[in-house]
Amino acid sequence: MAAIKIKEGVYSVGVLNPNMRIFDVIMRTEYGTSYNAFLIKSDKTALIETVHEHFFDEYISNISSVVDPGKIDYIIMNHNEPDHSGSLGKLIEKAPQLKVVTTQAGAIYLKNITNLSDMNIVTVKDGDTLDLGKGKTLRFVTAPFLHWPDSMFTWLESDKIAFTCDFLGAHYCEPRMFDSLVSYPGSYRQCVLGYYNAIFGPFKPYVLKGLTKLDTLDAEYVCPSHGPILTKGVMLEKVKADYLEWSTPKPRKKKYIPIFYCSAYGNTGRLARALADGISEIMPDAQVEILDINENAYPELQAKINGCDAFLVGTPTINRDAVQPVWRLVTGIDAVNVKGRKCAAFGSFGWSGEGVPMITERLRSLKLDVFADGYTCRFVPSDKELEEANDYGERFAKAVKG
Ligand code: FEO
Repeated sequence: MAAIKIKEGVYSVGVLNPNMRIFDVIMRTEYGTSYNAFLIKSDKTALIETVHEHFFDEYISNISSVVDPGKIDYIIMNHNEPDHSGSLGKLIEKAPQLKVVTTQAGAIYLKNITNLSDMNIVTVKDGDTLDLGKGKTLRFVTAPFLHWPDSMFTWLESDKIAFTCDFLGAHYCEPRMFDSLVSYPGSYRQCVLGYYNAIFGPFKPYVLKGLTKLDTLDAEYVCPSHGPILTKGVMLEKVKADYLEWSTPKPRKKKYIPIFYCSAYGNTGRLARALADGISEIMPDAQVEILDINENAYPELQAKINGCDAFLVGTPTINRDAVQPVWRLVTGIDAVNVKGRKCAAFGSFGWSGEGVPMITERLRSLKLDVFADGYTCRFVPSDKELEEANDYGERFAKAVKG
């Protein structure tokens, strides 16, 4: 991808990774991602972020189309996870005069990430500024835990651009970089939700603080370091509103109890309905929702399992294991904030039945409050077994009520 001009003297110089399908080991990225970086050219030149180390050559090529990399004055590191800091060492080799601007926490991380002892680091605090000349001044806005302690935003007031690193980003590779040009808006919005769940779901109170800080800036553009640039009047307001909604605690009048399941021949699905009936008999006001995992989008399932009051998860056993979509769901649990939540596993099996005990053990290891040992039956549940499942649902509901 070549450099793309955002405003006079401000360029996108990051790289695309359309083929990436797994990010950070755990996140599926069906639409790839981008490692965004930005260049601000004035009397002084500042770069915002580097890119993953595998893409250094393309990154330097993009920068070179605007300025000589050897003449860059500052590299602003809003956040120092290696997808943004991975090329810093190589960049410093090309531009040894570079001053690295980051927070105090960022400076500590950078030393261990780069293993360089002689970096020229400038640490900044909330509200500090950096004058690049000709009216272009950067202001640094600390944004701790969005999503690391080192995180900050950089605000270019003259152009009303906020550079927010991971915040409001998405793993969605958009070659034309602007939200107004996104080809598949529905898919992009799913990516925004999946990204939020994985990256910011554990930090909701900090998200609310970050949104408040961003609102005081009244940005025309928000440039995150993954996915499209957000523009006022296009998608910026919507993505901010989504973050606000997803992060705001929702006092519920009704308890919400989803029952997730996969079912090869409908037997685990039958158990799900019997369990739901049992819960509803004890908690008639509760919202009990049965969700076939394969029929629902993963980001929405992940939001429900992390945002509910209690849940059950059903799996058959295939080849002595729980099935992969169920594993995927339980590995998406936000173990920090979901700790102590009432839950249980259930499922039909044919031969050996390892699936339910495996999922039960997984839920216990996440320190959730697992009810009993789960409910299982062999093959097609009989009328008696459906009654037992109904009874299990009743006992589960009584435990939820406390
Ligand atoms: Fe995109 Fe937290 O790194």
